[in-house]
Amino acid sequence: MTIYPFRAVFTAALAATIAMAFATTLRAQTAPVWTVPEIGALPRDAHGLLVREGRDLITATYAHIGPNVPDPAKRYAGNNLACGNCHLMAGTKKFGIPLFGLLGDFPQYSARSGRDISLEDRVNACMTRSMNGRAMPDDAPEMKAIVAYITFLSSGVPAGKQLPGMGTGKMPEMSRAANPARGSVIYARVCAACHNTDGSGIRNSAPNTDLGYMMPPLWGPDSFNDGAGMARLINVANFVHFNMPHGTDYLNPRLSVEDAWDVAAYVVSQPRPHKAGAEKDFPDLLLKPVDAPFGPYADKYSEQVHKYGPFAAIREAIAKLKKAGAK
Ligand code: HEC
Ligand code: HEC
Repeated sequence: MTIYPFRAVFTAALAATIAMAFATTLRAQTAPVWTVPEIGALPRDAHGLLVREGRDLITATYAHIGPNVPDPAKRYAGNNLACGNCHLMAGTKKFGIPLFGLLGDFPQYSARSGRDISLEDRVNACMTRSMNGRAMPDDAPEMKAIVAYITFLSSGVPAGKQLPGMGTGKMPEMSRAANPARGSVIYARVCAACHNTDGSGIRNSAPNTDLGYMMPPLWGPDSFNDGAGMARLINVANFVHFNMPHGTDYLNPRLSVEDAWDVAAYVVSQPRPHKAGAEKDFPDLLLKPVDAPFGPYADKYSEQVHKYGPFAAIREAIAKLKKAGAK
């Protein structure tokens, strides 16, 4: 009985994916190539060393500013993740939430903060949410190194240039709610071997790098908090579709669109640290992302619908409210 709607959704989804892949290919031919500058070619002068340090902070965050480093003053991150667990290949992978070519986008208006934010503010947004930690001062040596690395990654990219490949990608949405129960079966089959049956990941075992993870946790006390971008269904689903299992490239996704939505719903349904004050995010509720997992909301849809979709009706309601407000 439900098989036919499912299949219709899936076929439409598949067609849209193919169309999107085609559009991406076409754009790739006209846009400048994804030329990430080579860090190893930098001279070993003060600037070259700072940029290298910045990359180390991205790929081995836990070893330098994690909750278990010896110097308490350096414990900015509250979990043992690395920025690079989400900003894949040290922030250089297409649709792996790249840090490449970002510089010209800042300062930018942040709907979450309700004001213009600097690149440092944006780094701290991930520090206090994705890393469940505390903000670093703008003049902390670690902040300067991270900013130097992100700045270096933007060398040669003109300010305001929209690069294809930013963010997590955008696969088609489903017309039904994403289903955590169905997702749990996919999780057990596809993800648990790496991320562990309880989502807690697998620690590094090499004695010199034992602070971090070989396979990062997806939920639980050492994971990102519920105010993080990765705690929102649309981000998780697209990230997973275009990047997981690890090694997957956006040109060749391995999970179907439907499976990616459902397994993401399972991840989103699991417990994680709470971000205090998250309900004050997005002071203009009309700009709050439809998939924010916590209220308040401008529309009448429940937290459950915001968490798992479907989102089309929410977007319509928001558009109406915006129109009414503009009159
Ligand atoms: C758990 C995953 C995760 C981790 C770990 C993480 N981030 Fe992020 N980051 C994201 C997501 C998701 C976004 C996009 C957020 C959104 O769309 O709301 C993002 C966005 C950003 C951006 C803005 C990118 C853009 O396109 O505008 C910067 C800069 C950034 N992160 C830096 C960092 C740094 C530095 C660290 C480590 C201190 C870090 N992030 C750790 C998930 C993560
Ligand atoms: C072959 C092992 C492997 C499999 C299978 C795998 N992952 Fe991952 N996953 C990783 C690794 C390793 C990273 C960190 C990437 C890095 O640091 O380069 C990661 C990162 C992630 C992240 C962002 C980091 C974090 O801690 O949240 C999410 C979300 C994620 N995986 C979800 C999934 C889901 C859902 C599945 C199943 C559909 C899956 N992964 C399957 C190895 C795997």
